[in-house]
Amino acid sequence: PFRQRLLVVANRLPVSAVRRGEDSWSLDISAGGLVSALLGVKQFEARWIGWAGVNVPDEIGQKALTKALAEKRCIPVFLDEEIVHQYYNGYCNNILWPLFHYLGLPQEDRLATTRSFQSQFAAYKKANQMFADVVNAHYEEGDVVWCHDYHLMYLPECLKKYNTKMKVGWFLHTPFPSSEIHRTLPSRYELLRSVLAADLVGFHTYDYARHFVSACTRILGLEGTPEGVEDQGKLTRVAAVQEHIKELKERFSGRKVMLGVDRLDMIKGIPQKLLAFEKFLEENPYWRDKVVLLQIAVPTRTDVPEYQKLTSQVHEIVGRINGRFGTLTAVPIHHLDCSLDFHALCALYAVTDVALVTSLRDGMNLVSYEFVACQEAKKGVLVLSEFAGAAQSLGAGAVLVNPWNITEVAASIGQALNMPAEEREKRHCHNFHHVTEHTAQEWAETFVSELNDSVVEAQLRS
Ligand code: UDP
Ligand code: G6P
Repeated sequence: PFRQRLLVVANRLPVSAVRRGEDSWSLDISAGGLVSALLGVKQFEARWIGWAGVNVPDEIGQKALTKALAEKRCIPVFLDEEIVHQYYNGYCNNILWPLFHYLGLPQEDRLATTRSFQSQFAAYKKANQMFADVVNAHYEEGDVVWCHDYHLMYLPECLKKYNTKMKVGWFLHTPFPSSEIHRTLPSRYELLRSVLAADLVGFHTYDYARHFVSACTRILGLEGTPEGVEDQGKLTRVAAVQEHIKELKERFSGRKVMLGVDRLDMIKGIPQKLLAFEKFLEENPYWRDKVVLLQIAVPTRTDVPEYQKLTSQVHEIVGRINGRFGTLTAVPIHHLDCSLDFHALCALYAVTDVALVTSLRDGMNLVSYEFVACQEAKKGVLVLSEFAGAAQSLGAGAVLVNPWNITEVAASIGQALNMPAEEREKRHCHNFHHVTEHTAQEWAETFVSELNDSVVEAQLRS
Protein backbone atom coordinates (compact mmCIF):
# COMPACT_ATOMS: atom_id res chain seq x y z
CA PRO A 1 0.00 0.00 0.00
CA PHE A 2 1.09 3.59 -0.65
CA ARG A 3 2.62 5.28 2.33
CA GLN A 4 3.02 9.04 2.16
CA ARG A 5 6.68 9.97 2.28
CA LEU A 6 7.28 12.44 5.05
CA LEU A 7 10.35 14.52 5.78
CA VAL A 8 10.24 15.60 9.40
CA VAL A 9 12.55 18.55 9.98
CA ALA A 10 13.30 19.54 13.56
CA ASN A 11 16.31 21.08 15.24
CA ARG A 12 16.56 18.03 17.51
CA LEU A 13 16.78 14.55 16.02
CA PRO A 14 15.02 11.81 18.02
CA VAL A 15 18.48 10.50 18.85
CA SER A 16 21.47 12.44 20.10
CA ALA A 17 24.98 11.26 19.29
CA VAL A 18 27.87 10.60 21.65
CA ARG A 19 31.31 10.11 20.19
CA ARG A 20 33.08 6.86 21.15
CA GLY A 21 36.08 7.03 18.83
CA GLU A 22 37.34 8.52 15.62
CA ASP A 23 34.67 6.85 13.56
CA SER A 24 32.34 5.34 16.13
CA TRP A 25 29.22 6.79 17.66
CA SER A 26 26.52 5.74 20.07
CA LEU A 27 23.01 7.12 19.93
CA ASP A 28 20.72 8.04 22.84
CA ILE A 29 17.05 8.90 22.69
CA SER A 30 16.54 12.67 22.96
CA ALA A 31 14.26 14.19 25.60
CA GLY A 32 11.35 16.55 25.07
CA GLY A 33 7.75 16.77 23.97
CA LEU A 34 8.49 17.19 20.29
CA VAL A 35 10.40 13.92 20.06
CA SER A 36 7.81 12.07 22.17
CA ALA A 37 4.94 13.28 20.03
CA LEU A 38 6.58 12.33 16.77
CA LEU A 39 7.80 8.93 17.92
CA GLY A 40 4.14 8.08 18.41
CA VAL A 41 3.57 8.61 14.71
CA LYS A 42 4.00 5.42 12.75
CA GLN A 43 1.81 5.62 9.69
CA PHE A 44 4.21 7.42 7.36
CA GLU A 45 7.32 6.56 5.45
CA ALA A 46 9.15 9.08 7.59
CA ARG A 47 12.68 10.39 7.54
CA TRP A 48 14.06 12.86 10.06
CA ILE A 49 16.35 15.74 9.29
CA GLY A 50 18.00 17.56 12.17
CA TRP A 51 20.92 18.23 14.44
CA ALA A 52 22.44 15.35 16.38
CA GLY A 53 23.37 17.56 19.34
CA VAL A 54 27.15 17.41 18.87
CA ASN A 55 29.85 19.29 17.04
CA VAL A 56 31.55 17.11 14.42
CA PRO A 57 34.33 19.16 12.84
CA ASP A 58 36.07 16.35 10.95
CA GLU A 59 35.04 14.55 7.81
CA ILE A 60 35.69 11.05 9.17
CA GLY A 61 33.40 11.73 12.10
CA GLN A 62 30.70 13.21 9.87
CA LYS A 63 30.75 10.23 7.53
CA ALA A 64 30.56 7.70 10.34
CA LEU A 65 27.77 9.55 12.11
CA THR A 66 25.79 9.96 8.90
CA LYS A 67 26.00 6.21 8.46
CA ALA A 68 25.00 5.40 12.04
CA LEU A 69 22.04 7.78 11.82
CA ALA A 70 20.87 6.37 8.51
CA GLU A 71 19.92 3.17 10.33
CA LYS A 72 17.50 5.22 12.39
CA ARG A 73 16.21 6.93 9.25
CA CYS A 74 17.83 10.14 10.40
CA ILE A 75 19.77 12.61 8.31
CA PRO A 76 22.12 14.98 10.14
CA VAL A 77 22.55 18.70 9.69
CA PHE A 78 26.05 19.60 10.87
CA LEU A 79 26.23 22.87 12.74
CA ASP A 80 29.58 24.17 13.92
CA GLU A 81 30.20 25.39 17.45
CA GLU A 82 29.87 29.06 16.66
CA ILE A 83 26.53 28.59 14.91
CA VAL A 84 25.22 26.45 17.77
CA HIS A 85 26.27 29.14 20.19
CA GLN A 86 24.59 31.98 18.32
CA TYR A 87 21.59 30.17 16.83
CA TYR A 88 20.69 27.51 19.41
CA ASN A 89 21.96 28.83 22.74
CA GLY A 90 21.49 32.44 21.72
CA TYR A 91 18.60 33.22 19.43
CA CYS A 92 16.48 30.11 20.02
CA ASN A 93 16.88 29.50 23.72
CA ASN A 94 17.80 32.87 25.11
CA ILE A 95 15.43 35.00 23.01
CA LEU A 96 12.58 33.11 21.34
CA TRP A 97 11.96 30.49 24.03
CA PRO A 98 11.57 32.92 26.98
CA LEU A 99 9.62 35.36 24.84
CA PHE A 100 7.14 32.77 23.58
CA HIS A 101 6.60 31.65 27.18
CA TYR A 102 6.05 35.20 28.42
CA LEU A 103 9.21 35.13 30.51
CA GLY A 104 11.11 38.36 30.52
CA LEU A 105 14.86 38.44 30.47
CA PRO A 106 16.69 39.36 33.66
CA GLN A 107 17.49 43.06 33.60
CA GLU A 108 21.23 42.56 33.39
CA ASP A 109 20.86 40.26 30.38
CA ARG A 110 18.44 42.46 28.55
CA LEU A 111 20.93 44.96 27.23
CA ALA A 112 23.45 42.32 26.34
CA THR A 113 20.78 40.46 24.41
CA THR A 114 19.72 43.60 22.64
CA ARG A 115 23.30 44.10 21.55
CA SER A 116 23.93 40.60 20.31
CA PHE A 117 20.56 40.37 18.65
CA GLN A 118 21.66 41.13 15.08
CA SER A 119 24.47 38.61 14.96
CA GLN A 120 22.30 35.95 16.60
CA PHE A 121 19.48 36.49 14.16
CA ALA A 122 21.95 36.31 11.29
CA ALA A 123 23.15 32.96 12.65
CA TYR A 124 19.54 31.82 12.99
CA LYS A 125 18.90 32.53 9.34
CA LYS A 126 22.13 30.90 8.34
CA ALA A 127 21.31 27.77 10.36
CA ASN A 128 17.82 27.60 8.85
CA GLN A 129 19.39 27.85 5.40
CA MET A 130 21.65 24.91 6.29
CA PHE A 131 18.59 22.85 7.22
CA ALA A 132 16.98 23.91 3.93
CA ASP A 133 20.00 22.73 1.95
CA VAL A 134 19.82 19.29 3.51
CA VAL A 135 16.07 19.05 2.96
CA ASN A 136 16.49 20.11 -0.63
CA ALA A 137 19.15 17.47 -1.22
CA HIS A 138 16.85 14.68 0.02
CA TYR A 139 13.53 15.92 -1.31
CA GLU A 140 11.66 13.87 -3.86
CA GLU A 141 8.59 15.04 -5.71
CA GLY A 142 5.42 14.37 -3.75
CA ASP A 143 7.13 14.38 -0.35
CA VAL A 144 5.47 16.21 2.48
CA VAL A 145 7.95 18.37 4.39
CA TRP A 146 6.93 18.97 7.99
CA CYS A 147 8.98 21.61 9.82
CA HIS A 148 8.86 21.88 13.58
CA ASP A 149 9.12 24.48 16.26
CA TYR A 150 10.59 27.88 16.98
CA HIS A 151 14.06 26.89 15.83
CA LEU A 152 12.91 26.68 12.23
CA MET A 153 10.61 29.62 11.60
CA TYR A 154 12.77 30.80 8.77
CA LEU A 155 12.76 27.42 7.05
CA PRO A 156 9.41 27.47 5.17
CA GLU A 157 10.52 30.48 3.15
CA CYS A 158 13.95 28.99 2.39
CA LEU A 159 12.27 25.82 1.16
CA LYS A 160 9.74 27.58 -1.02
CA LYS A 161 12.57 29.56 -2.59
CA TYR A 162 14.08 26.32 -3.70
CA ASN A 163 10.87 24.88 -4.96
CA THR A 164 7.44 26.52 -4.85
CA LYS A 165 5.80 23.14 -5.41
CA MET A 166 7.20 21.60 -2.24
CA LYS A 167 4.42 20.82 0.26
CA VAL A 168 5.55 22.56 3.43
CA GLY A 169 3.92 22.52 6.85
CA TRP A 170 5.13 24.06 10.10
CA PHE A 171 4.02 23.19 13.62
CA LEU A 172 4.87 25.11 16.77
CA HIS A 173 5.34 23.10 19.97
CA THR A 174 5.38 26.12 22.27
CA PRO A 175 2.74 28.73 22.96
CA PHE A 176 2.48 31.50 20.41
CA PRO A 177 2.28 34.61 22.58
CA SER A 178 -0.02 37.56 22.33
CA SER A 179 0.83 39.82 19.40
CA GLU A 180 1.86 42.49 21.92
CA ILE A 181 4.74 40.26 22.94
CA HIS A 182 5.68 39.23 19.45
CA ARG A 183 5.75 42.91 18.53
CA THR A 184 8.79 43.51 20.72
CA LEU A 185 10.97 41.24 18.58
CA PRO A 186 13.29 43.15 16.25
CA SER A 187 12.83 40.36 13.73
CA ARG A 188 9.03 40.34 14.05
CA TYR A 189 8.26 40.86 10.34
CA GLU A 190 10.71 38.42 8.91
CA LEU A 191 9.72 35.55 11.18
CA LEU A 192 6.01 35.91 10.48
CA ARG A 193 6.50 36.32 6.73
CA SER A 194 8.67 33.31 6.50
CA VAL A 195 6.32 31.08 8.47
CA LEU A 196 3.48 32.22 6.22
CA ALA A 197 5.31 30.77 3.25
CA ALA A 198 4.23 27.35 4.54
CA ASP A 199 1.07 25.74 3.16
CA LEU A 200 -0.15 24.93 6.61
CA VAL A 201 0.79 26.34 10.00
CA GLY A 202 -0.24 24.48 13.15
CA PHE A 203 -0.50 25.16 16.87
CA HIS A 204 -1.40 23.25 20.00
CA THR A 205 -4.42 25.32 20.97
CA TYR A 206 -6.93 27.64 19.44
CA ASP A 207 -5.59 30.57 21.48
CA TYR A 208 -2.09 30.23 20.08
CA ALA A 209 -3.48 30.17 16.53
CA ARG A 210 -5.55 33.24 17.28
CA HIS A 211 -2.48 35.06 18.61
CA PHE A 212 -0.62 34.14 15.47
CA VAL A 213 -3.38 35.41 13.21
CA SER A 214 -3.63 38.64 15.11
CA ALA A 215 0.14 39.11 14.95
CA CYS A 216 -0.16 38.72 11.18
CA THR A 217 -2.96 41.28 11.03
CA ARG A 218 -1.41 43.80 13.36
CA ILE A 219 2.24 43.46 12.49
CA LEU A 220 2.07 42.56 8.83
CA GLY A 221 -1.23 44.30 8.13
CA LEU A 222 -2.62 41.16 6.53
CA GLU A 223 -6.20 40.07 6.64
CA GLY A 224 -6.86 37.24 9.01
CA THR A 225 -9.84 35.11 9.84
CA PRO A 226 -10.09 32.35 12.38
CA GLU A 227 -9.70 29.95 9.43
CA GLY A 228 -6.82 31.95 7.99
CA VAL A 229 -4.43 29.87 9.98
CA GLU A 230 -5.43 26.36 10.45
CA ASP A 231 -5.07 25.34 14.01
CA GLN A 232 -4.30 21.82 14.90
CA GLY A 233 -3.72 20.54 18.32
CA LYS A 234 -4.55 17.72 20.60
CA LEU A 235 -1.63 15.48 20.78
CA THR A 236 -1.42 12.60 23.13
CA ARG A 237 0.54 9.72 24.34
CA VAL A 238 0.08 6.06 24.73
CA ALA A 239 1.72 4.04 27.38
CA ALA A 240 2.05 0.57 28.82
CA VAL A 241 4.35 -1.33 31.20
CA GLN A 242 4.25 -3.26 34.42
CA GLU A 243 7.65 -4.41 35.68
CA HIS A 244 9.11 -1.56 37.67
CA ILE A 245 5.79 -0.77 39.26
CA LYS A 246 5.90 -3.34 42.03
CA GLU A 247 9.37 -2.37 43.12
CA LEU A 248 8.51 1.30 43.36
CA LYS A 249 5.33 0.57 45.25
CA GLU A 250 7.30 -1.20 47.95
CA ARG A 251 9.87 1.53 48.12
CA PHE A 252 7.34 4.20 49.01
CA SER A 253 4.77 2.11 50.82
CA GLY A 254 3.04 3.98 53.57
CA ARG A 255 3.61 7.29 51.86
CA LYS A 256 1.65 9.11 49.19
CA VAL A 257 3.71 9.73 46.10
CA MET A 258 3.69 13.09 44.38
CA LEU A 259 5.50 13.37 41.07
CA GLY A 260 7.01 16.12 38.95
CA VAL A 261 8.63 15.38 35.59
CA ASP A 262 10.17 18.30 33.78
CA ARG A 263 13.14 19.39 31.81
CA LEU A 264 15.00 21.71 34.17
CA ASP A 265 13.67 24.78 32.42
CA MET A 266 12.49 28.18 33.65
CA ILE A 267 9.10 27.68 32.04
CA LYS A 268 8.34 24.63 34.16
CA GLY A 269 7.97 26.58 37.41
CA ILE A 270 10.07 24.13 39.42
CA PRO A 271 11.10 26.62 42.14
CA GLN A 272 7.44 27.63 42.48
CA LYS A 273 6.45 23.98 42.83
CA LEU A 274 9.06 23.37 45.52
CA LEU A 275 8.09 26.46 47.48
CA ALA A 276 4.45 25.43 47.37
CA PHE A 277 5.36 21.97 48.62
CA GLU A 278 7.41 23.53 51.40
CA LYS A 279 4.47 25.69 52.41
CA PHE A 280 2.23 22.66 52.41
CA LEU A 281 4.59 20.80 54.75
CA GLU A 282 4.91 23.86 56.94
CA GLU A 283 1.16 24.12 57.35
CA ASN A 284 0.42 20.40 57.56
CA PRO A 285 2.72 18.70 60.08
CA TYR A 286 0.50 15.60 59.86
CA TRP A 287 1.61 14.98 56.29
CA ARG A 288 5.35 15.45 56.83
CA ASP A 289 6.20 11.76 57.07
CA LYS A 290 3.35 10.60 54.88
CA VAL A 291 4.15 12.16 51.55
CA VAL A 292 7.15 12.20 49.24
CA LEU A 293 7.74 14.40 46.21
CA LEU A 294 9.72 12.79 43.40
CA GLN A 295 11.02 15.44 41.10
CA ILE A 296 12.66 14.29 37.88
CA ALA A 297 14.52 17.31 36.53
CA VAL A 298 16.10 16.46 33.21
CA PRO A 299 19.14 18.65 32.49
CA THR A 300 18.67 20.72 29.37
CA ARG A 301 20.47 23.48 27.45
CA THR A 302 23.24 23.40 30.01
CA ASP A 303 25.46 25.87 28.15
CA VAL A 304 22.94 28.68 28.53
CA PRO A 305 23.75 30.72 31.69
CA GLU A 306 20.10 31.15 32.68
CA TYR A 307 19.72 27.37 32.86
CA GLN A 308 22.87 27.06 34.96
CA LYS A 309 21.51 29.61 37.42
CA LEU A 310 18.22 27.76 37.63
CA THR A 311 19.99 24.51 38.44
CA SER A 312 21.77 25.97 41.45
CA GLN A 313 18.64 27.75 42.57
CA VAL A 314 16.64 24.52 42.50
CA HIS A 315 19.37 22.58 44.30
CA GLU A 316 19.47 25.17 47.00
CA ILE A 317 15.73 25.04 47.61
CA VAL A 318 15.65 21.24 47.64
CA GLY A 319 18.51 21.18 50.13
CA ARG A 320 16.79 23.64 52.39
CA ILE A 321 13.47 21.80 52.41
CA ASN A 322 15.06 18.40 52.99
CA GLY A 323 17.12 19.93 55.77
CA ARG A 324 14.04 21.40 57.39
CA PHE A 325 11.68 18.45 57.12
CA GLY A 326 13.91 15.42 56.62
CA THR A 327 14.62 12.83 59.28
CA LEU A 328 17.51 10.44 59.68
CA THR A 329 15.73 7.89 57.53
CA ALA A 330 13.61 9.86 55.08
CA VAL A 331 13.54 13.10 53.13
CA PRO A 332 10.44 14.75 51.71
CA ILE A 333 11.94 15.45 48.26
CA HIS A 334 13.77 13.04 46.00
CA HIS A 335 15.30 15.21 43.35
CA LEU A 336 16.87 13.55 40.30
CA ASP A 337 19.07 15.44 37.86
CA CYS A 338 18.79 12.91 35.08
CA SER A 339 16.40 11.50 32.57
CA LEU A 340 14.61 8.19 32.90
CA ASP A 341 13.84 5.78 30.14
CA PHE A 342 10.31 5.42 28.93
CA HIS A 343 9.55 2.26 30.92
CA ALA A 344 10.81 3.58 34.23
CA LEU A 345 8.86 6.75 33.64
CA CYS A 346 5.64 4.91 32.92
CA ALA A 347 6.10 2.90 36.10
CA LEU A 348 6.54 6.11 38.05
CA TYR A 349 3.44 7.62 36.50
CA ALA A 350 1.51 4.50 37.48
CA VAL A 351 2.45 4.53 41.18
CA THR A 352 1.92 8.25 41.59
CA ASP A 353 -0.95 9.58 43.71
CA VAL A 354 -0.68 13.21 42.69
CA ALA A 355 1.11 14.65 39.64
CA LEU A 356 2.23 18.25 39.92
CA VAL A 357 2.60 20.28 36.74
CA THR A 358 3.29 23.93 37.55
CA SER A 359 4.52 25.33 34.24
CA LEU A 360 4.55 29.12 34.09
CA ARG A 361 3.86 28.63 30.37
CA ASP A 362 3.92 25.46 28.34
CA GLY A 363 2.86 24.74 24.77
CA MET A 364 0.94 21.59 25.64
CA ASN A 365 2.78 19.54 28.29
CA LEU A 366 2.82 15.90 27.37
CA VAL A 367 3.77 14.85 30.87
CA SER A 368 0.23 15.56 32.01
CA TYR A 369 -1.17 13.43 29.17
CA GLU A 370 1.20 10.60 29.94
CA PHE A 371 0.31 10.68 33.62
CA VAL A 372 -3.40 10.41 32.86
CA ALA A 373 -2.75 7.59 30.39
CA CYS A 374 -0.93 5.56 33.07
CA GLN A 375 -3.50 6.02 35.84
CA GLU A 376 -6.21 3.63 34.80
CA ALA A 377 -5.82 1.61 37.98
CA LYS A 378 -4.94 4.25 40.51
CA LYS A 379 -7.02 7.21 39.37
CA GLY A 380 -4.65 9.74 40.86
CA VAL A 381 -5.06 13.48 40.79
CA LEU A 382 -3.47 15.84 38.29
CA VAL A 383 -2.64 19.27 39.67
CA LEU A 384 -2.15 21.30 36.51
CA SER A 385 -1.07 24.84 35.76
CA GLU A 386 -3.68 26.90 33.97
CA PHE A 387 -0.82 28.22 31.82
CA ALA A 388 -0.11 24.88 30.14
CA GLY A 389 -1.84 24.25 26.82
CA ALA A 390 -3.10 20.99 28.33
CA ALA A 391 -5.26 23.00 30.77
CA GLN A 392 -7.63 23.62 27.88
CA SER A 393 -8.15 19.93 27.27
CA LEU A 394 -7.56 18.34 30.70
CA GLY A 395 -8.86 21.26 32.75
CA ALA A 396 -12.15 19.61 33.58
CA GLY A 397 -10.55 16.63 35.27
CA ALA A 398 -7.51 18.31 36.75
CA VAL A 399 -7.17 20.59 39.76
CA LEU A 400 -6.15 23.80 38.01
CA VAL A 401 -3.74 26.17 39.71
CA ASN A 402 -2.01 29.46 39.14
CA PRO A 403 1.64 28.51 39.75
CA TRP A 404 2.50 32.07 40.73
CA ASN A 405 0.20 31.76 43.72
CA ILE A 406 2.09 29.52 46.12
CA THR A 407 -0.69 29.58 48.71
CA GLU A 408 -3.15 28.31 46.16
CA VAL A 409 -0.82 25.57 44.95
CA ALA A 410 -0.14 24.47 48.54
CA ALA A 411 -3.88 24.30 49.18
CA SER A 412 -4.39 22.31 45.99
CA ILE A 413 -1.77 19.80 47.09
CA GLY A 414 -3.84 19.30 50.23
CA GLN A 415 -7.03 19.03 48.22
CA ALA A 416 -5.47 16.46 45.90
CA LEU A 417 -4.03 14.33 48.72
CA ASN A 418 -7.33 14.30 50.57
CA MET A 419 -9.64 13.85 47.60
CA PRO A 420 -12.30 11.16 48.07
CA ALA A 421 -12.07 8.16 45.73
CA GLU A 422 -15.35 8.92 44.06
CA GLU A 423 -14.31 12.38 42.96
CA ARG A 424 -10.90 11.13 41.82
CA GLU A 425 -12.56 8.54 39.68
CA LYS A 426 -14.87 11.04 38.06
CA ARG A 427 -12.08 13.46 37.26
CA HIS A 428 -9.82 10.74 35.97
CA CYS A 429 -12.43 9.27 33.65
CA HIS A 430 -12.99 12.61 32.10
CA ASN A 431 -9.34 13.10 31.26
CA PHE A 432 -8.66 9.50 30.37
CA HIS A 433 -11.35 9.69 27.75
CA HIS A 434 -9.76 12.78 26.24
CA VAL A 435 -6.27 11.34 26.21
CA THR A 436 -7.28 8.11 24.53
CA GLU A 437 -9.33 9.93 21.90
CA HIS A 438 -6.67 12.47 20.96
CA THR A 439 -3.53 10.53 20.20
CA ALA A 440 -0.25 11.61 18.61
CA GLN A 441 -1.23 9.44 15.69
CA GLU A 442 -4.44 11.38 15.16
CA TRP A 443 -2.59 14.68 15.49
CA ALA A 444 -0.05 13.79 12.80
CA GLU A 445 -2.63 12.25 10.49
CA THR A 446 -4.82 15.33 10.63
CA PHE A 447 -1.93 17.72 10.15
CA VAL A 448 -0.57 15.91 7.11
CA SER A 449 -3.94 15.39 5.48
CA GLU A 450 -4.85 19.04 5.98
CA LEU A 451 -1.52 20.01 4.53
CA ASN A 452 -2.29 17.93 1.45
CA ASP A 453 -5.72 19.54 1.20
CA SER A 454 -4.31 23.06 1.59
CA VAL A 455 -2.03 22.49 -1.37
CA VAL A 456 -4.85 21.17 -3.56
CA GLU A 457 -7.05 24.13 -2.63
CA ALA A 458 -4.27 26.58 -3.39
CA GLN A 459 -3.80 25.00 -6.80
CA LEU A 460 -7.52 25.33 -7.54
CA ARG A 461 -7.47 28.98 -6.57
CA SER A 462 -4.60 29.91 -8.86
N1 UDP B 1 10.73 12.44 29.34
C1 UDP B 1 11.52 11.33 29.24
N2 UDP B 1 12.38 11.02 30.27
C2 UDP B 1 12.46 11.76 31.39
C3 UDP B 1 11.64 12.89 31.49
C4 UDP B 1 10.79 13.22 30.46
O1 UDP B 1 11.44 10.61 28.24
O2 UDP B 1 13.24 11.44 32.29
C5 UDP B 1 9.77 12.79 28.28
C6 UDP B 1 8.33 12.72 28.79
O3 UDP B 1 7.85 11.41 28.73
C7 UDP B 1 7.60 13.68 27.82
C8 UDP B 1 8.68 14.64 27.38
O4 UDP B 1 9.93 14.14 27.85
O5 UDP B 1 7.10 12.99 26.70
C9 UDP B 1 8.41 16.04 27.93
O6 UDP B 1 7.40 16.63 27.16
P1 UDP B 1 6.55 17.90 27.65
O7 UDP B 1 5.60 18.23 26.53
O8 UDP B 1 5.91 17.62 28.96
O9 UDP B 1 7.61 19.09 27.89
P2 UDP B 1 8.83 19.67 27.01
O10 UDP B 1 10.08 18.97 27.52
O11 UDP B 1 8.58 19.36 25.57
O12 UDP B 1 8.88 21.14 27.30
C1 G6P C 1 10.72 21.63 23.85
C2 G6P C 1 10.81 22.14 22.41
C3 G6P C 1 11.45 21.08 21.51
C4 G6P C 1 12.77 20.64 22.10
C5 G6P C 1 12.60 20.16 23.55
C6 G6P C 1 13.91 19.77 24.21
O1 G6P C 1 9.83 20.58 23.87
O2 G6P C 1 9.51 22.48 21.94
O3 G6P C 1 11.65 21.60 20.20
O4 G6P C 1 13.34 19.60 21.32
O5 G6P C 1 12.00 21.20 24.30
O6 G6P C 1 14.84 20.82 24.17
P1 G6P C 1 16.23 20.75 23.37
O7 G6P C 1 16.73 22.16 23.34
O8 G6P C 1 17.08 19.82 24.17
O9 G6P C 1 15.98 20.19 21.99
